[in-house]
Amino acid sequence: MIRSTEPADTQSLVALAASTEVFKPLELVALEEVLCDYFATNKALGHRALTAVDGTIQGFAYFAPAAMTDRTWYLWWIAVMPGTQAKGIGSELLRLAEDEVRQQRGRILLVETSSLPHYEPARKFYAKHGYTQAATIAGYYAAGDDMVVFSKGME
Ligand SMILES: CC(C)(COP(=O)(O)OP(=O)(O)OC[C@H]1O[C@@H](n2cnc3c(N)ncnc32)[C@H](O)[C@@H]1OP(=O)(O)O)[C@@H](O)C(=O)NCCC(=O)NCCS
Repeated sequence: MIRSTEPADTQSLVALAASTEVFKPLELVALEEVLCDYFATNKALGHRALTAVDGTIQGFAYFAPAAMTDRTWYLWWIAVMPGTQAKGIGSELLRLAEDEVRQQRGRILLVETSSLPHYEPARKFYAKHGYTQAATIAGYYAAGDDMVVFSKGME
């Protein structure tokens, strides 16, 4: 089942993101802040968060309109528990996120990821779902760690 993210999910989602071993400690701190801000203010401003549950929490996605654009959206986070990856949960979260962006008349959905080898499954995942590599910013995250921006039209 995929449902709206609830405040009580916060610690589980941070733990889930940590368990994937792809996010840096700084990014995990940022995730907790993002979820805090979501419940405090950003949900009311149109941000969206989804939690996948199958007995326990299995995954989540967070997406939001990009400020100062005409209906461009960003997928900020998507993650699935390591033990249940590659079983379709990520695809279902992404599909529901895209449905919601379309319902909000979004034009483009962007997602930023890293060029590092351990993000290869994520890059394949986006390509498989029709995202194209729109830009690369060399050395963005760190020396030798580029930002790769994937984009998909929603109209
Ligand atoms: C990327 C991620 C959200 C995809 O969710 P998922 O539930 O594993 O993906 P699905 O089962 O729906 O889709 C599987 C596809 O994703 C890719 N993939 C992603 N992770 C994979 C893994 N661990 N094993 C195999 N394939 C994986 C493959 O392209 C696969 O397609 P295939 O089955 O045709 O080979 C998930 O693997 C994850 O949480 N990764 C770690 C966190 C992360 O990198 N998030 C994105 C940050 S930018």
